Amino acid sequence: MTIFAPSILSADFSCLKEQIRQVEEAGAEWLHLDIMDGHFVPNISFGPGMVHALRPHSKLFFDVHLMISDPDKYIGDFVKAGADLITVHVEACIHLHRTIQEIKKHGIKSSVALNPATPLQTLECILPYLDMVLIMTVNPGFGGQKFIPEGLEKIKKLRKMIENKGLNTDIQVDGGINEETVSQAVEAGANILVAGSAIFGQPNIKEALQNLKQRVK
Ligand code: DX5
Ligand code: ZN
Repeated sequence: MTIFAPSILSADFSCLKEQIRQVEEAGAEWLHLDIMDGHFVPNISFGPGMVHALRPHSKLFFDVHLMISDPDKYIGDFVKAGADLITVHVEACIHLHRTIQEIKKHGIKSSVALNPATPLQTLECILPYLDMVLIMTVNPGFGGQKFIPEGLEKIKKLRKMIENKGLNTDIQVDGGINEETVSQAVEAGANILVAGSAIFGQPNIKEALQNLKQRVK
């Protein structure tokens, strides 16, 4: 099943509740929440307080993407705030296995993200412990960047790696997903699609999501 996870990074923060309602009505399954600390990535977004404030207003699955240094420190806070899944970056974790155990301990789903320049080999020992892998198709930090096409080959290889190991790990793709790239990502093997500017950045949010959904039917 293909799942859409609109990223609120490109939403109008002054009326988030209303904008989230629109993607919910248009058939979004997940909500992607981008956490940026101004250290791991050159931008600051929002923290657990925002996740907590939004939680009572949406039934969507809260997909929390941590683009922060030392994520271990904040896992508990994001779980309390209402995260259903937490993604950490392999580049930000010295003891990745421990970090993943920490997420799982709270009974939520765990995932690891790879920057465009990070090879798939870093997943070799951790893959069986993960519910999802996030392949970044832009350098993390900002919405509205151009899709890096080499990510498609990476998704294909990862899909093979997952199959060879007999796993059923989800593959999420994040960055530059729009009406052109969405079907390429799905054909390559991604089944969870993040899109920010192509949904919340559009004048008609509902229509934008429905159009994307149509492309992968
Ligand atoms: C980028 C974030 C993305 C971002 C995607 O660092 O992780 O989730 O919101 O934005 P678009 O879809 O505009 O590339
Ligand atoms: Zn993201």
